[in-house]
Amino acid sequence: MTHLLHINSSPRFDRSHTRRLTSDFVERWKSIHPHGTVTSRDLGTDPLPHVTQDWIAAAFTPPNRRSADMRAALRLSDELIDELFDADLIVAGIPFYNFGMPSGFKAYVDQIVRVGRTFDFHPDDPDSAYTPLVHGKRLIAVVSRGDGGYGPGGPNEMRNHLDPHLRTVFSFIGVEQVEIVAAENDEHGGIALADSLDSARRRLMELAEANFPAPEVVSSCRAN
Ligand SMILES: Cc1cc2nc3c(=O)[nH]c(=O)nc-3n(C[C@H](O)[C@H](O)[C@H](O)COP(=O)(O)O)c2cc1C
Repeated sequence: MTHLLHINSSPRFDRSHTRRLTSDFVERWKSIHPHGTVTSRDLGTDPLPHVTQDWIAAAFTPPNRRSADMRAALRLSDELIDELFDADLIVAGIPFYNFGMPSGFKAYVDQIVRVGRTFDFHPDDPDSAYTPLVHGKRLIAVVSRGDGGYGPGGPNEMRNHLDPHLRTVFSFIGVEQVEIVAAENDEHGGIALADSLDSARRRLMELAEANFPAPEVVSSCRAN
């Protein structure tokens, strides 16, 4: 059965474009996949903690040497990673803040990019010190930006640090299929915003209706 992980990270509610767009995607996806399941994670209403010194020490201690406190420090991260492993498809609403991702989504990234869970580290291997451990998943990142021209070839493209960051960090853990669907012009409003929202919604409907190939490998790297 196909499983969708629906993430929102806008602190806004009624006025949030990314919330509305991801919600439209989920509704369409559910109508196409009546037996599919959806897990929701709201980083706007329920912000995640930043990683701490205790978290880092625990993450870099081998699992069989972790104390009860260390295991507790990683519990939320384990839950988030299990949630990611359970999903075939992830749709994430990500507002464009100060040319990158909002801190709420960055806190999520810091919790899920974890040695031994989502990537492996072999310092002695000169060819590939890092191995991704997540396989067969696809991310649809739904972005909204206040200004325009941040897309490929646009006048603000070089100020767009969000798209390359998303592709880099998700491919680092093995999510190679990253589709970014962006709306622009929230701050300009009018027809420019309406057109941009329309084309983002159209693309999302296409993606919701697309028959993604079944994941080749379902990772079994769950927490013990
Ligand atoms: C703290 C903050 C920083 C922002 N930084 C940018 C920016 O660098 N470039 C831009 O085009 N829009 C920027 N915006 C506008 C948002 O990208 C825009 O309002 C977007 O629609 C937010 O997503 P949401 O509608 O889902 O909340 C910023 C907004 C906020 C609140």
